[in-house]
Amino acid sequence: MKVFLQTYGCQMNKLDTALVTSALKKAGFSLTESEKGADVALINTCSVRDHAEQRVLSHLGHLKHIKKSKPNMVVGVIGCMAQRLGAELLEDRTIDIVCGPAQIPQITELVTKALQEKKRTLVITEKIRQKPAEDEALEKFESVFDSDDKQIPGQAFVRVMRGCNNFCTYCIVPYVRGPEVSRPPAAIIEQAKRLAGKGVKLVTLLGQMVNAYKYNTCGRTYCLADLLYMVSEIEGIEWIRFVTSYPAEEFYDQILKAMADLPKVCNYLHMPAQSGSDKILKAMNRNYTVSKYLELLDRARAMVPGIAIAGDFMVGFPGETEEDFGRTVNLVQKARYKNCFIFKYSARPGTAADKRLQDDVSEEVKKRRNIKLLAVQEKISDELSKEFIGKKVKVLVEGLSKKSGVNPCGEKSYPPQGRRTSPPLGPLRLRSETGEISLKANPQLVGRTAEDWIVVFNGPVGLAGEFAKVKITRTSPLTLFGEMT
Ligand code: SAH
Ligand code: SF4
Ligand code: F3S
Repeated sequence: MKVFLQTYGCQMNKLDTALVTSALKKAGFSLTESEKGADVALINTCSVRDHAEQRVLSHLGHLKHIKKSKPNMVVGVIGCMAQRLGAELLEDRTIDIVCGPAQIPQITELVTKALQEKKRTLVITEKIRQKPAEDEALEKFESVFDSDDKQIPGQAFVRVMRGCNNFCTYCIVPYVRGPEVSRPPAAIIEQAKRLAGKGVKLVTLLGQMVNAYKYNTCGRTYCLADLLYMVSEIEGIEWIRFVTSYPAEEFYDQILKAMADLPKVCNYLHMPAQSGSDKILKAMNRNYTVSKYLELLDRARAMVPGIAIAGDFMVGFPGETEEDFGRTVNLVQKARYKNCFIFKYSARPGTAADKRLQDDVSEEVKKRRNIKLLAVQEKISDELSKEFIGKKVKVLVEGLSKKSGVNPCGEKSYPPQGRRTSPPLGPLRLRSETGEISLKANPQLVGRTAEDWIVVFNGPVGLAGEFAKVKITRTSPLTLFGEMT
């Protein structure tokens, strides 16, 4: 039986897809890249912005069309949108399975039942903000199935926390991913060791507020810094990253100290500010001010020289005036990010902002502010990237370069590819955009430095998943170009 799997959304979803893939493969299914040739099509969905949901809906429209000539094909919607919309999705007869993020351990069973018994099922969490009953099953699923279906050779995600308790007023995540739960350190380390054994060199530790990781056991509290020290000890793991950090004091210095002390921990911090206006930050329920945020950045740069910082911003939050937006521009100018992801505010049903505030900034204004902020960041990224000319960098090679990346969220962000993680290369990366296996001896490859700079150079395809040394000869705002040395 062949399964087609498509992922929308963030790294959490990418990791879930990898786990689901492992589970299905273990049960004897094989993967296919063509929907038409698939017996089962699973869409792992995102609800973070309306646009993300619209893309899923249009994909489902396409599957509906395919299903007309293949009525036995099983279609499943998993992930955040499944949790948010639940039964509403099942009203569409195209869909056979609706499975929330906490129910993915049941995926093999659900798919098998749908295939054999034509059974249509809905499994989501009833009371999403209650202590998760699914925790044990998820924990087991997470450790039994390694995320060894590496979407990028040599790299894997390891979840350190599930859910979120922050309730930023615009955000749907706490309502689809449930309460914040930190995983036991032993389980995390065990998983990282197994991945190292399978050739993984870069692990990225994942949490919605990863710097808040906290686990009490054996009379002590483990924080993210402790995890960094422990993962650093693992032979085979050469680079460690963690995302996403929230601008908060707790554990901050310890985490930066670990970054400074440990050569394996990449000098990279993704710490979204969202806005440069204290008024808007307050309305967003972000618990810091702009001056506090800048102070945290200064401290990071003092403790970890050469650290690359990435940010997220939202434009057009309810009540955002030209003056507020001007403050955001100021912050972007002062922060000197390596890159920023910039989003237009999208009201999400059920969130505090949607219930209490009017989405009063027009689409046209949101668009204009988005373009302006992108231009401000582009200039900074251009200046920062030029500093690399003539220098040698170490990169972890991802695979063949793809000239026109697609933003997984389909929106304008910076860099223009809008990549929150890696380019959408997947296992296909040994092929070119036309689907041909590259026959060139030294095709164009893409990799990243420890600081997450994208590097494009010519080299043998077999380097995917390996480290390479590249001398930078020219740059664009988002990419360094060079030659292997
Ligand atoms: N947990 C991470 C972010 C998760 S969502 C953090 O707190 O940093 C990723 C990004 O999507 C956010 O940083 C924010 O910039 C954006 N985002 C979240 N909700 C949004 C909404 N309703 N409209 C537009 N952008 C949103
Ligand atoms: Fe959403 Fe805020 Fe949690 Fe990030 S920290 S997932 S933006 S609620
Ligand atoms: Fe991620 Fe989207 Fe869910 S950003 S946690 S996949 S709502």
